[in-house]
Amino acid sequence: MSERSWDGRVVLVTGSSSGIGAAVARRFGERGASVLVNSSRSVEAGQAVAASLPDAIYVQADVGDEDQCSMLVERALERWGRLDVLVNNAGTGPVIPHQNLKDATLEVWREVFAVNVFGVWALTVAAAQALAQTKGSVVNITSIAGIRQTGSSLPYATSKAATNHMTELVARVLGPDVRVNAVAPVLVDTPRTENWEGSFEQYAQVAPMRRAATADDVADVVLFLAESPYLTGEVLVLDGGFRLVR
Ligand SMILES: NC(=O)c1ccc[n+]([C@@H]2O[C@H](COP(=O)([O-])OP(=O)(O)OC[C@H]3O[C@@H](n4cnc5c(N)ncnc54)[C@H](OP(=O)(O)O)[C@@H]3O)[C@@H](O)[C@H]2O)c1
Repeated sequence: MSERSWDGRVVLVTGSSSGIGAAVARRFGERGASVLVNSSRSVEAGQAVAASLPDAIYVQADVGDEDQCSMLVERALERWGRLDVLVNNAGTGPVIPHQNLKDATLEVWREVFAVNVFGVWALTVAAAQALAQTKGSVVNITSIAGIRQTGSSLPYATSKAATNHMTELVARVLGPDVRVNAVAPVLVDTPRTENWEGSFEQYAQVAPMRRAATADDVADVVLFLAESPYLTGEVLVLDGGFRLVR
């Protein structure tokens, strides 16, 4: 689809050198939006995503650092003079079985929360005024792990629960000028999950949709949330019906 309904609007997507973030950047880019592409380490991959879009810049920044979050918003405003959508997609967290309490050290908790929770907060605060000027919105990529007792580690799942709740709380205070929503996907086929074969088999056998999600499935929902003028405070579960059977 190449409908250019986003011409003249600006979207900042954190963690968009790969996986879901790259698919979201492409989805908005193909609709005509100007896109700020970001990652903290994978510079070449991020530059390649930006180069593939009609009007995009790549900015390296670590979302776990408050100053770098502010800088990302400033770079978008310097370049295009406005911001319409902030997609808080960057996320992190090692795989640690939940019963393995000792490996979920406070250091791991701090690292995971720095990006998945504090980064989302810092970017939302930094972007709020600019988003209010355009009647824009925030879309947070959280996870089913923030709702059900699942996920790649306890700190990760708890961070996503915090961000789901933050989505609802911030939606209350930023309306009516800024809408705030989240998409909470199940397993998505991305570089993060490329070695999780067993989990993919489970979805193929059990989920009503008989597969895990793709990054494009998530991008479709992000676009929908960004385009729905009355939708705010929503945490949309994207699970192919998996919750109905598990
Ligand atoms: N894949 C799934 O099954 C799944 C399910 C539910 C929710 N999610 C969520 O979806 C989001 C994207 O996941 P994904 O599967 O697409 O992962 P991915 O393919 O590993 O991509 C993660 C992206 O985030 C960037 N990133 C990581 N830490 C960052 C930081 N501190 N600052 C800026 N960028 C950072 C990565 O680039 P650098 O490493 O170069 O920084 C990369 O661009 C995450 O929030 C994840 O929790 C994923």
